[in-house]
Amino acid sequence: MASASAALRKSQTAPLPPSDSLSDEDFLRIAELVGGHTGIRLPAGKRTMVEGRIRKRMRATGQSSFADYCHYVFEDGGLATEVTHMIDAVTTNKTDFFREPEHFDVLRRHIVPDCLSRSRGGKAALKVWSAAASNGAEAYTIAMVLADMASRERRFDFSILGTDISTDILAQARRAVYPADFVAPVPAEMQRRYLMHSRDPAAREVRIVPELRRHVGFMHLNLMDDSYAVDGDVDAIFLRNVLIYFDKPTQVAVVGRLLRHLRPGGYLLLGHSESMIGASLRLKQLAPSVFKLV
Ligand SMILES: C[S@@+](CC[C@H](N)C(=O)[O-])C[C@H]1O[C@@H](n2cnc3c(N)ncnc32)[C@H](O)[C@@H]1O
Repeated sequence: MASASAALRKSQTAPLPPSDSLSDEDFLRIAELVGGHTGIRLPAGKRTMVEGRIRKRMRATGQSSFADYCHYVFEDGGLATEVTHMIDAVTTNKTDFFREPEHFDVLRRHIVPDCLSRSRGGKAALKVWSAAASNGAEAYTIAMVLADMASRERRFDFSILGTDISTDILAQARRAVYPADFVAPVPAEMQRRYLMHSRDPAAREVRIVPELRRHVGFMHLNLMDDSYAVDGDVDAIFLRNVLIYFDKPTQVAVVGRLLRHLRPGGYLLLGHSESMIGASLRLKQLAPSVFKLV
């Protein structure tokens, strides 16, 4: 396995001369381009972060300054190829296994029992959507919890869809290889069952076992799109830690579009810092960041 730690890092190597920075105009052009495609707001306070991340693209395209890079993108035909890379560069993909762990208790105590009781003793199949999946840690955490339950309840099965706008991060999610340190939040018993270790002990990497991966699929999806190519009867949508990057009207529009894919009685789980955003006529709040479609 190649180094997943390196793949997870998004930073630059050698520093540029300190004098090189984005002009006001170029920063605004980048902010408008990114905002228009992704909904992500890039206020002035994000400028240093954007410079740091765009620097990598500058090198990759052989440009020697921010001004040259922006000229190449905006005036010299580079836009079509660079837009995807720019989105990959500016999205914040911070995630963890078992992040905000209360949500996985909701999965165990409410979402799966609901699914089992609806199936009235027959086969029960749960559909879960991780709608800002990042490197897959959230989707595989859900898979671990559900696989555990499925091992005790033979009639229970599940499928998980992970979607994200960043093509780079989706490639990592599909590969399902993580640095050993990164999986530390996974309980020891689950690590034993659901993670395999590299044959090269020096690699310090693990991979999600195929039996778990077969329940999880990943797909590119932009939450800004007018409609989503996703089933209309999803049982639970995890939309955690992405709405914070959008302005209020965008947050409301995204939640509204996602609700079209939730079955009646289905669950929407937001990040803890986003709990107020779920306030909608069609949602009943069960816990600070957990909602049920009525
Ligand atoms: C901070 S991560 C959250 C990951 C995970 N949900 C969690 O809570 O740990 C936010 C993710 O949202 C994705 N994202 C940002 N804008 C998006 C958009 N317009 N459509 C789809 N995904 C988007 C980013 O690429 C990033 O991977």
